[in-house]
Amino acid sequence: MEFFFTVLIILSVITPGLSSTTTSFNVLQYGAVGNGQTNDSPAFLKAWKAACQSNSHISRLIIPAKRTFLLKPTTFSGPCKSNYTYIQLSGNIIAPKTKSEYSGFHTNTWLGFSFVNGLAISGKGTIDGRGSAWWQQPCVGNPLPGATCRPPTAVTFNRCNRLQLKGYTSINPARSHMTLTSCKKGIISNIRLIAPGTSPNTDGIDISGSTDIQVLNSFIATGDDCIAISAGSSKIKITGITCGPGHGISIGSLGTRGETDIVEDVHVENCTLTETLTGVRIKTWQGGAGYARRITFEKIRFVRANNPIIIDQFYCPHRSDCQNQTRAIKISDVTYKGIVGTSLTDKAINLSCDQNVGCSNIVLDHVYITPSVPGQKVFSYCHNAHGIATHTKPSVKCLLK
Ligand SMILES: *[C@@H]1O[C@H](CO)[C@@H](O)[C@H](O)[C@H]1NC(C)=O
Ligand SMILES: *[C@@H]1O[C@H](CO)[C@@H](O)[C@H](O)[C@H]1NC(C)=O
Ligand SMILES: *[C@@H]1O[C@H](CO)[C@@H](O)[C@H](O)[C@H]1NC(C)=O
Ligand SMILES: *[C@@H]1O[C@H](CO)[C@@H](O)[C@H](O)[C@H]1NC(C)=O
Repeated sequence: MEFFFTVLIILSVITPGLSSTTTSFNVLQYGAVGNGQTNDSPAFLKAWKAACQSNSHISRLIIPAKRTFLLKPTTFSGPCKSNYTYIQLSGNIIAPKTKSEYSGFHTNTWLGFSFVNGLAISGKGTIDGRGSAWWQQPCVGNPLPGATCRPPTAVTFNRCNRLQLKGYTSINPARSHMTLTSCKKGIISNIRLIAPGTSPNTDGIDISGSTDIQVLNSFIATGDDCIAISAGSSKIKITGITCGPGHGISIGSLGTRGETDIVEDVHVENCTLTETLTGVRIKTWQGGAGYARRITFEKIRFVRANNPIIIDQFYCPHRSDCQNQTRAIKISDVTYKGIVGTSLTDKAINLSCDQNVGCSNIVLDHVYITPSVPGQKVFSYCHNAHGIATHTKPSVKCLLK
């Protein structure tokens, strides 16, 4: 909290000559009820419009504590006149409970933020996607008339520059907890993302097309990737993440259906992954073009992870046309350093690279993975990976020593 307000205060002090005012807009003043029953979307949109159009340097949208606001699918659009639009999330927000309440909206998102520069969301509140209806009933047969079959992402940030998210909790999304697309300069810190380990496709944070994003000191326990970094992302820093259950921290999948995808400058440090399905993974499809490069995993701890370290240039789930092709995403300059922990399966390390494009400058240094059951063995598997492995166990045969 202190850090967050300090940032806002410093930012208002270092812009002398401008109105350094903060103007507040409480959703209750715009007709929100907060009884968990009334549709508060119209009131939130009115309050948002007022805050967004305010000429003050910082405009603050207050969502008060001790109340629960039911919102239908809603898009909060910018650009705003205020330089910082700060949502003080003290109360709770809940999603519609049934799928049919999503019909008639042209969005695959419950709460969307688009084109907002300087958006900050902070507070002790909870965002509850109430997604269990979507998890239990896969899309088979005829969906309700007009209803979409694809579960909505809980919160999306599209083209949001200077985004700050801090302190709040997101639970039980229908699909991902949050996605960032085409955002620049974001800091996400001290948040909690929670869903059952069995809930399908509930990624924690999906980052795509975004640059200069930091995710710090957060707790993610969910049903799919804790953090997934996909096409068009660069300068991504992830530190202090506790992940599990979930599928770990993933880069990709890249190159789906022959796409040209690029990911570069990703740094993952000081993270603990507990009982995740995979650990740290880079996955690319055959037939794609582009590259994933300058990726570092440092000081990572695995606790009974299923497949701790994976590079997979043959990624192809749920599809039959998995032929090897001449093109692939190039993977290079990937470093694993100071990695310790236990593997639940015997497959501790799997570096599976394509024979035409391959993986180059793969560096493992001080990587020690032991079986979670004492006395068992763990193995590494390595195909067309080039680079060097020092102080590494299990040893990785295709890398130099
Ligand atoms: C926002 O910042 C810009 C540039 O820093 C400045 O020109 C503008 O006046 C500021 N707007 C407000 C409402 O403070
Ligand atoms: C590492 O991450 C944990 C949270 O998992 C945090 O408490 C700790 O301060 C971090 N350590 C460093 C050196 O950043
Ligand atoms: C693709 O190539 C890899 C490595 O040579 C091999 O293990 C795999 O069986 C091949 N897959 C197909 C579908 O040919
Ligand atoms: C390693 O990954 C490749 C590519 O997904 C897969 O075909 C292979 O079975 C894996 N090997 C092990 C030992 O898990």
